[in-house]
Amino acid sequence: MPHEVRSLIDDRPRDGAFRIHRDAYLDPSVFALERERLFAGGWVYVGHESQVRAPHDHLAVSLADVPVVVMRDGDGRLGCFHNRCRHKGMLVCLPGRGNRRFHACPYHAWVVDSGGRNVSIKDDEQAAYGADFGSRCHGLEPVAAFGNYRGFLFASLSATTRTLDEYLGDARVFIDLIVDQSPDGVELVPGGVTYTFAANWKHQIENSIDAYHFTSTHPSYLRLLDRRARAPQRTDVTAAVWQGDGGREVEQSMGAFGLRNGHALVWTDSPAERHPLYAGRDAVRERVGETRLRWMFRTRQFNVFPNLQLASNAALQMRVIRPLAVDLTEVSAWCVAPVGEPREARRRRLRQFEDFFNPSGLATPDDTVMYEGLQAGLAAGSDPWSQAGARGLAHALEGADEHARELGIDPLQSVHGPFAMADESILRPIYRNWVERLSGGESR
Ligand code: FES
Ligand SMILES: [Fe+2]
Repeated sequence: MPHEVRSLIDDRPRDGAFRIHRDAYLDPSVFALERERLFAGGWVYVGHESQVRAPHDHLAVSLADVPVVVMRDGDGRLGCFHNRCRHKGMLVCLPGRGNRRFHACPYHAWVVDSGGRNVSIKDDEQAAYGADFGSRCHGLEPVAAFGNYRGFLFASLSATTRTLDEYLGDARVFIDLIVDQSPDGVELVPGGVTYTFAANWKHQIENSIDAYHFTSTHPSYLRLLDRRARAPQRTDVTAAVWQGDGGREVEQSMGAFGLRNGHALVWTDSPAERHPLYAGRDAVRERVGETRLRWMFRTRQFNVFPNLQLASNAALQMRVIRPLAVDLTEVSAWCVAPVGEPREARRRRLRQFEDFFNPSGLATPDDTVMYEGLQAGLAAGSDPWSQAGARGLAHALEGADEHARELGIDPLQSVHGPFAMADESILRPIYRNWVERLSGGESR
């Protein structure tokens, strides 16, 4: 490793300095450490319960490069296993979803049931196995830890991490703000989209909470919003991701919370009447109270570190990040929706979702072009430091501000200011956590 990991962050609070070294994005040895300490060594999002709703449903995914499979057995119990046949190591389930009571390995047809237990070894009677064979486990190996927070499923390949509740901490409050939109919770709308970009995964982490880029990276989208505003009858897709009115409501305020363990959230005020929940607000208010209802109407860009992003605005998008190499990242995106949502509201939600997000949307391609440009550009020049992290620093508070207090959370850092401040200081608690974990410590 050419660097001490700590030297990748220039963090001098007394001087009002915070910078990130380009090798955090460019160095393959840093990437190898991230895989080991963040993706194999901690809690990582694996799937949503709505993808494995019925008995014998399964969902095969990869945590960075380790294939795992989430299964629901015949009694309704969920488990998460290494997707590896105990015979010679074949993938037992192909990537994706399915429903099977039994999984026969495609290679030599050893069979496990939907609880991961081996139920058959082909031609067992004639096998003449050595004495040791019978003492081996022939079923799927459970991952070291598996947890379910309100339908969001997380796994850890390492037995040494904290409980899922401890890991999520205050991030649970923001998951609640999503799940409580319906008395029956939320579901992934069928039809996820997966794409890759040739850049480091952390550009995606940073961009989702980067309000600063919105007006300059997405001008064609903003022009389109303007045109729609002049001919509103032509479309029912009206809302932008950061603002309700395509950048004109500059008096809006914004804020950010840096939570423990690298989770972070950026919020902005948005016109409540454009939110899909607005029509049914009285019932939601009764269930969650006035304060939480107000927070549900706010635009929230939320990272559950390291691989889950939930963007809440007129639509609700979930992204799952899978780093493939230091300069290659896969993203899978889904529309999230309240269970039992009226048909017309679901239709509007889907149109909003398709409009902005995904490779075919009006904004995601702009962003991915920026990530690839960043990856190339960061290698140039004699100054190794990225200036990201400085904006908003003078307003950054240690601990909770009034907005955090009304939600009852205890963040490491809170920021609040006009929308145009477009805080970037929220990167500081994220990268402090990143440095701690890459250096081998437990994060705070
Ligand atoms: S590798 Fe699975 S049965 Fe042989
Ligand atoms: Fe963007």
